[in-house]
Amino acid sequence: MAEKSSASSLGDGAEVSSVVSIRPARTSDVAAMVDLIAPLVDRRVLLGKERVTLFESIQEFVVAEARDTGEVVGCGALHVMWEDLAEVRTLAVREDWLHRGVGSLLLTTLLGRAADLGVHRVFCLTFETEFFTKHGFTVVREPPVDPVVYAELLRSQDEGVAEFLELARVKQNTLGNTRMIIHF
Ligand SMILES: CC(C)(COP(=O)(O)OP(=O)(O)OC[C@H]1O[C@@H](n2cnc3c(N)ncnc32)[C@H](O)[C@@H]1OP(=O)(O)O)[C@@H](O)C(=O)NCCC(=O)NCCS
Repeated sequence: MAEKSSASSLGDGAEVSSVVSIRPARTSDVAAMVDLIAPLVDRRVLLGKERVTLFESIQEFVVAEARDTGEVVGCGALHVMWEDLAEVRTLAVREDWLHRGVGSLLLTTLLGRAADLGVHRVFCLTFETEFFTKHGFTVVREPPVDPVVYAELLRSQDEGVAEFLELARVKQNTLGNTRMIIHF
């Protein structure tokens, strides 16, 4: 079933919606997601994810499927961290599909998921500052949580949360990335 997405701020999304549909990921999409993500991991743009991690977090993912071929041409995940905080992760569009609005469609769908969950602050760690700025994200220097929540988040085993908290053991993963957040 296609997933609803709010209209993209980069156009109304109608044109791209006629060629791709956004839907919840299925376990059978993992192979295509690995192919999509691998070159970006090699370039250190995205954090590498084990196949098992993708299966374990499959419900967090949406994919963009080309309507004509059924191929997966983009993916992205929303990971809830706390009562009013989530992270957009592993947002990726296949190289031959870039700049056609697919990334915007995926992102607005993930923000819609956050709103449905009652989460109104969404974080990302990215090199794509222009793209996220166009979608209303702003740069933050520090992890935007109070000390009590920070202490609770330290109990998480999740690598992405460790990156969010800027823990020394994952510092090399996040070099050059910008920490951004949107409140809505
Ligand atoms: C970030 C990313 C997902 C964006 O994907 P995308 O599909 O190219 O995104 P969009 O097409 O919606 O928007 C990108 C650009 O295309 C433009 N655009 C969107 N629709 C368009 C259209 N129909 N025609 C022409 N241009 C269009 C946008 O204005 C935007 O312009 P910019 O390149 O000047 O910023 C993609 O670049 C990517 O996979 N990056 C690597 C992974 C990454 O860094 N992910 C984020 C951290 S998790």
